[in-house]
Amino acid sequence: MARKKISVIGAGNVGATAAQRLADKELGDVVLVDIVEGMPQGKALDLAEAAPIEGYDSRLAGSNGYKETADSDIVIITSGLARKPGMSRDDLLRTNAGIVGSVTEQVMKYSRNPILIIVSNPLDAMCHVALKSSGLPKERVVGMAGVLDSARMRCFIAEALNVSVENVNAFVLGGHGDTMVPLPRYSTVAGIPLPDLLPKEKIDQIVSRTANGGAEIVSLLKSGSAYYAPSAAAVEMAEAILKDKKKILPCAAYLQGEYGINGLYVGVPVKLGERGVEDIIQINLTTEERAALQKSAAAVQELVTVLGG
Ligand code: NAI
Ligand code: 2OP
Repeated sequence: MARKKISVIGAGNVGATAAQRLADKELGDVVLVDIVEGMPQGKALDLAEAAPIEGYDSRLAGSNGYKETADSDIVIITSGLARKPGMSRDDLLRTNAGIVGSVTEQVMKYSRNPILIIVSNPLDAMCHVALKSSGLPKERVVGMAGVLDSARMRCFIAEALNVSVENVNAFVLGGHGDTMVPLPRYSTVAGIPLPDLLPKEKIDQIVSRTANGGAEIVSLLKSGSAYYAPSAAAVEMAEAILKDKKKILPCAAYLQGEYGINGLYVGVPVKLGERGVEDIIQINLTTEERAALQKSAAAVQELVTVLGG
């Protein structure tokens, strides 16, 4: 079987950690690209030198250009600025739109039909930029947010109940921002609905901590944002695609009427397989949940409108 090729654009915290996780899992050969001279090359070499110890045979390369990314199966886009304390994801909008647009164009010069996993913030708006700049069909441009947000919720639920994280499933829909929509009703512990296990006040606390999960890390780190969980989330999506797992994960997908939303990237459960977003799963929502999702979609629309899309 031919080796898969995964390019990671932006070799900063999320990108480099994603490269490490991709190699650890031997999901394919990995190319790291960044504008900082020597940095992606240095990180790729360092990761290659860890291979004999960790026992992976993924090849790693670093570059300041795109030739090395030729014929990528998957491209994970993490380039851009990260949030600093006091800065919202939306503050990043214009700068990162320029960066994501230009890197996507460069990627497309060398790869005919990759699947793009977008990570750069503000996430949902950056998916629009990548969709437009790539000319790819909507199934091949997908955003990472829901896997991270629901992992945070799962972590907090497991902690509250003192159970294995492996027992906990959680769903977070909507845009990756303060208006995200954690869904306790669809969150389960060993199949038991969360509302049967925790009092409402505790669930409300978990929901609020989840929605502020990114900011909580920013306020602790003070010089950047989360990257261990974000890179793990992006790599779970890459693995689902590379192995054609048909895994249902909450991801930012381009909606065309689903959930009553049209022409917008919003976080919803999707089926990820070798063709990218192979299906959008529509779950029943209460009037309240539906209203929260609409509000979240409106927040995404506002940013997309600013970008003229
Ligand atoms: P970082 O600052 O550590 O890395 C970003 C890298 O992008 C830097 O190395 C920088 O040199 C590079 N870069 C900037 N312009 C570039 C260009 N034109 N071409 C290639 N590389 C370029 O930031 P970090 O922590 O890795 O975060 C990356 C992005 O991901 C940020 O926008 C952050 O907000 C976002 N993020 C999104 C998450 C999500 O859930 N969707 C979670 C975590 C981070
Ligand atoms: C996060 O949620 C900053 O969006 C990033 O950690």
